[in-house]
Amino acid sequence: MAGLLAAGISALALTAGAHASEMTVVPEQPDFPAQTKITYVPRDAIEEFKSLPSYSEPEWVTEKFVDTGELPPLEERLPKEPLVFKTGNMPDGIGVYGGTLRHVIGGRPEGWNYPAGQTQGWGGIDIGLFECLTRTAPLYQVEADDMEPLPNLAKSWEWSEDGHTLTMHLIEGAKWSDGVPFTSEDVMFMWEDNIVDPNITPLNGASKETFGSDTSLKAIDDYTVEWTFAEAFPRQYLFNMAYGNFCPGPAHILKTKHPKYADTTYEQYKNAFPPEMMNWPVMGAWVPVEYRPDDIIVMRRNPYYWKVDEEGHQLPYIDELQYKLSTWADRDVQTIAGSADFSNLEQPENFVVALRRSAEETAPARLAFGPRLIGYNMRLNLSGNGWGDPDERAQAVRELNRNPDFRKAVTMALDRQAIGDSLVRGPFTAIYPGGLASGTSFYDRESTYYYPYDPDGAKELLKSIGLEDTDGNGFVNWPADTLGGEDVDIVLLVGSNYTTDMNLSEAVIGQLQQVGLRVIQNAVENNQHDAMRYAGDFDWMIMRNPPALASVVQGTTSLAPVGPRTSDHHRAGPDGTLDLLPYEEQMIDIVDQFIATDDNAERTELMKQYQTVATQNVDTIGLTEYPGALIINKRFDNVAAGAPIFMFNWAEDAVIRERMFVPADDQQNHELHPETLPGEPGGDGPTG
Ligand code: GLA
Repeated sequence: MAGLLAAGISALALTAGAHASEMTVVPEQPDFPAQTKITYVPRDAIEEFKSLPSYSEPEWVTEKFVDTGELPPLEERLPKEPLVFKTGNMPDGIGVYGGTLRHVIGGRPEGWNYPAGQTQGWGGIDIGLFECLTRTAPLYQVEADDMEPLPNLAKSWEWSEDGHTLTMHLIEGAKWSDGVPFTSEDVMFMWEDNIVDPNITPLNGASKETFGSDTSLKAIDDYTVEWTFAEAFPRQYLFNMAYGNFCPGPAHILKTKHPKYADTTYEQYKNAFPPEMMNWPVMGAWVPVEYRPDDIIVMRRNPYYWKVDEEGHQLPYIDELQYKLSTWADRDVQTIAGSADFSNLEQPENFVVALRRSAEETAPARLAFGPRLIGYNMRLNLSGNGWGDPDERAQAVRELNRNPDFRKAVTMALDRQAIGDSLVRGPFTAIYPGGLASGTSFYDRESTYYYPYDPDGAKELLKSIGLEDTDGNGFVNWPADTLGGEDVDIVLLVGSNYTTDMNLSEAVIGQLQQVGLRVIQNAVENNQHDAMRYAGDFDWMIMRNPPALASVVQGTTSLAPVGPRTSDHHRAGPDGTLDLLPYEEQMIDIVDQFIATDDNAERTELMKQYQTVATQNVDTIGLTEYPGALIINKRFDNVAAGAPIFMFNWAEDAVIRERMFVPADDQQNHELHPETLPGEPGGDGPTG
């Protein structure tokens, strides 16, 4: 391994070219003292599964629904052993019922079929709807050596002696929000007919290889499933069974439209459950009951929810969730102003205004910064064998992307200080050459390499690989034997829903113009950006970093092309093979070793190597990184201090909304459907 690594580095040094800027370790980052401290807790202090002597729910539910015979008594709706959140881990203790949590999102719902890849608009709306086998977002408060996913739909698991078999016990007797039992059938349908089915890409892009390339799953009985892995004890995959990779949908509804069980096409299956369909059955705490396009989605408490507090109160405490359909920038604005309740302050363009207002005594919301975990990379499509079906021009760009000198030229042409300053001035943004985020526990600055800003060196390098401006129009041309020697045109895919993404794209395009590279912006709405990303339909793209770069242990398989569909910028061509570059083989080797070991010291060492290989070879072109801040209205209790807006997952998951509450005196009258519950799936909306 070490030999392989050394060989990779010296090969690079040889090609580095006399005029190019020297590779160095990345500069120290500006200090950012505003970061909130986290109080660490043992993992088992958060939750457990057990039955309690008695249970209760909001009085109006019992009176209006149970006493009238519309709903079975609570005991019959709860599982044998509900998930119990421990009081000791609740910052403000046992809560009270009522209240409304008002979110704002910039996304729009495509429909409810998340197993087939439809988004509900992001911003945590899906996190409120669906539940996954395991849960990882709250682990931000757990020390690294105690790190294992929290049980969730899978309430416990054990490994076989040889470590190749994992037996998982599902929560027993839990029900979907329409009262239908949740069983291993839901889990198997998610696996066989969605994740493994090559015609389907579930929301967040899981594929079979997300769980190991030679993995299988089978049902033992209604509440037991058994995994078989090629590796021994690959505990890492338990992280991939959390949001959003293994979150089953309701098989009893989905199967009625899936091509394997019904006379439908895959396209029809995907689109069979439009956003207008109300009361979609969920395992999550809230059920969608109203949808007005471009206006709002309203969700009401799930009367079958299977989590409780230690006194037996069925959760959630909060009866109603609202999702106003607006823009991501408006989410910050409204939350700061107090007309919405929750925002991940992640667009630096809004930092200064947000900080100023939240410092005032009368500010309606609390704002708390976390570590530098929000980052952006420009990803160059590294497939040379047909992923995304490139035409002649695009194929020629792919060949450039695969050339280390080209990637070095691109990275040297970027003035990252200026890019950061164009978003916000001050100690927020840092020079980020790519690779792991500086806020992760695995980060090591000495292993993080960087080619300093050097536009002249970049031009020299481009020239050395045959890219020169032969017609004097300011842009480099292809060599005469490629595409008739015309100008090199590169198309940059960017999501248009975020101000930051668009600003980064403009900064990059302007700076690359200075070295003669003509980059053309292709700004598309973010759902389409995702679709084009999965399809490989891009030359270059700007992408906000996925969880693997912020946590390492979540989504680890996305750190390298370890399987045909795990990387964001290099996937298999139509023949199913990956045309790997030598340094990618090294990255894969490192990631495979990481997955295979539990030894913390070894893992730390492996991630240093990963960072070195990724940054020395410019696997991606880092653009900037900065901290984000969580903004939550002051009337909410049970919000743990220091929840980062992004680490294992987004804050909407990390804060554990199902146990947040509003003290009775602060409950304002925001509910749109007071004292109602979700109605029949597909019916008009709430009842009561
Ligand atoms: C979007 C937002 C994030 C977060 C996630 C949750 O991506 O930009 O801040 O709310 O949705 O999925």
